[in-house]
Amino acid sequence: MEKRAYIETYGCQMNVNDTEVIFSILKDAGYARTEVMEQADLVMANTCSIRDNAEQRIWGRIEAFNQLRASRPGLIVGIVGCMAERLKDKLLETHKVDLVVGPDAYRSLPRLLNAIGPDSPQIDVLLSRDETYADIPPVRTDRNGISAFISIMRGCNNVCSYCVVPYTRGAERSRDANSIAREACDVYQKGYREVTLLGQNVDSYLWNSGTESVTFAGLLERVAAIAPDLRVRFATSHPKDISDEVIYTMAAHPNICKHIHLPVQSGSTRLLEKMRRKYSREWYLERVAKIREVMPECGLTTDVIAGFCSETPEDHQDTLSLMEEVGFDWAFMFAYSDRPGTLANRTMQDDVPADEKNRRLNEIIQLQNRKSLERYRAQIGKRLEVLVEGPSKRDPSMLCGRASNNMMCVFPAAGRAAGQYTQVLVKDCTSATLLCE
Ligand code: 5AD
Ligand code: SF4
Repeated sequence: MEKRAYIETYGCQMNVNDTEVIFSILKDAGYARTEVMEQADLVMANTCSIRDNAEQRIWGRIEAFNQLRASRPGLIVGIVGCMAERLKDKLLETHKVDLVVGPDAYRSLPRLLNAIGPDSPQIDVLLSRDETYADIPPVRTDRNGISAFISIMRGCNNVCSYCVVPYTRGAERSRDANSIAREACDVYQKGYREVTLLGQNVDSYLWNSGTESVTFAGLLERVAAIAPDLRVRFATSHPKDISDEVIYTMAAHPNICKHIHLPVQSGSTRLLEKMRRKYSREWYLERVAKIREVMPECGLTTDVIAGFCSETPEDHQDTLSLMEEVGFDWAFMFAYSDRPGTLANRTMQDDVPADEKNRRLNEIIQLQNRKSLERYRAQIGKRLEVLVEGPSKRDPSMLCGRASNNMMCVFPAAGRAAGQYTQVLVKDCTSATLLCE
């Protein structure tokens, strides 16, 4: 009888995509996907290490998995993803999981699953220089069938001093451009109308076939050429690497969505240096100015960290003033979390007290809420093209879908269906949704 696998995914979109790759590998090993944990023969968490609270949440889930195993003998409990390498000993010894597999070792899952016995847990956390899972067709786990995520590279070479990713996911490598284009064609033929190209730093995408060399701008062109009604999005851009060529390529193709997620992290050049971001406040503002000069309607979103090592009240003010000046549509905002093994952890003091970090974070959040509302209000009266994704979550009698700039729009169904493009007129808004006709 076919066995069933249940996977919970934590962390970034990259992890969501990895889970889809894992389901594909498991399918070949005789496991079907289930969304009901209690029915599974294999339960796994695809984990995230980015901040301490992400890890803390997952320890609780492992306990729940282990409880289920106590009542379902033979159940396999596995931990995959970013926590695997970092915490393998604790996972195996203290938490008694059966399987620990790192982000580059998913191909060994069938072999490891076969080898698991009552007293022989299995582990593979080796990182690779070239694994991109290019030939593995992900089992799409999204529900809407409209918008697909395609991984274009893995790992990261920017050793930002606060970040665990280079340690958990290894060195950067780009995936074969032909296999990316094939995957995009394939999802288009299946009815998808939007692809998001994913990488830790898409601007440094570079793939050499021996005869040709494809940059990120080249890849964008290639995917945009698949069909005029296939939208192309991407994440994440790095302020030090986003090139004029990428900006002009976006501008030249109506189906490349006008939205850039451009994490700033801090508005203080002194802190940016300590973070090893390799750009200054001025450089960042110049990139934003360039984007807006070429694409005035481009949506801009960011990530911000409050209370990094040695951050003074003046540094914090620099972050607030940068956010005020740029006016992001939306931001992910975090209190700095010291991660074992990072450069900051080894060489700097995590010296901003927790309550001060949170106070600064709240100031940042309040400022951003005000800015988001301003940015969304500025859309009132505009006509936007929206790709219909499906019923709105709040009010299923309405439809929802994103505008090119990534703002979520809600509008009356009026005979439209998921996967169609429609023109809407923005009538009103909240700080996260445009209410349209
Ligand atoms: N503490 C807080 N936030 C972090 N991020 C990455 N590492 C940390 C950390 N140690 C944030 C950054 C990054 C986003 C994915 O997570 O803002 O852009
Ligand atoms: Fe994604 Fe980073 Fe979390 Fe890993 S640690 S899952 S790369 S956000």
